[in-house]
Amino acid sequence: MLDDAVRRIREATDLEPRVGVVLGSGLGGLADALESRVEIPYDDIPGWPTSTAVGHAGVLVLGEVDGVAIAVMRGRAHLYEGVGADRAVFGVRVLGRLGVRTLVVTNAAGGINEAYRPGMLVLISDHVNLQGASPLVGTNDEELGPRFPDMSDAYDPELRRLAREAAGRLGIELPEGVYAAWLGPQFETPAEIRFMRAVGGDLAGMSTVPEVIAARHMGVRCLGISVVTNMAAGVLPEKIDHSAVLEVGARAAGSLTALLRELVPTLSA
Ligand code: HPA
Repeated sequence: MLDDAVRRIREATDLEPRVGVVLGSGLGGLADALESRVEIPYDDIPGWPTSTAVGHAGVLVLGEVDGVAIAVMRGRAHLYEGVGADRAVFGVRVLGRLGVRTLVVTNAAGGINEAYRPGMLVLISDHVNLQGASPLVGTNDEELGPRFPDMSDAYDPELRRLAREAAGRLGIELPEGVYAAWLGPQFETPAEIRFMRAVGGDLAGMSTVPEVIAARHMGVRCLGISVVTNMAAGVLPEKIDHSAVLEVGARAAGSLTALLRELVPTLSA
């Protein structure tokens, strides 16, 4: 199945991307900025699960930034849509098979850390998987990777250094934080957010972790960037509203796109 998907992509373009990017809810700006762009709707790629989440386009975009070929997943599958974790990471595995060695994952997240503010970008330093699922459950495909992959440095320290340098050049504040992954689709309760904070979480979100597990399984280096779209439940005396989450995400998307344009060409080594 992965091979059929790779064949379909190779039919559409000669580009050989070594860097992949997953763009979260409403964060599609980088895809529009690519040169020599080729777009392939997920529906046209054999085996690719279709995304049903609002704000997710569902298209694979290949193109170049500063002459560096990249593959951008605009839209992703989430576990809360009812796809199994193994299916949700299909796209990431296709990118790995296509030759991607570095994956940048982005997402919208709730801020647990009180030093954060909505609209801020945060570099993911590590994660806590509270989704109760792993894409690696089941028979291990030895061609993809080992049965028991190491997850130390899942968010590559060298890539994080490059990200901090790129942010510094642009004057973008980029603190680091731990991403706690929640199954959803309901937002967390305030008690659940206090639990996430107690186990070391700075950010709450519903994506990214299955993708990073699948990428690390294949030996692909990962970098994660969250857009803080709201403070998490109970942090402020306000309710969480998905349309406000999308709106803040759309406003912060500009600085995320600027950071990715600066950063991505430095990741192709
Ligand atoms: N919790 C979980 N996921 C999210 C949030 C949140 O507060 N905001 C955006 N994605």
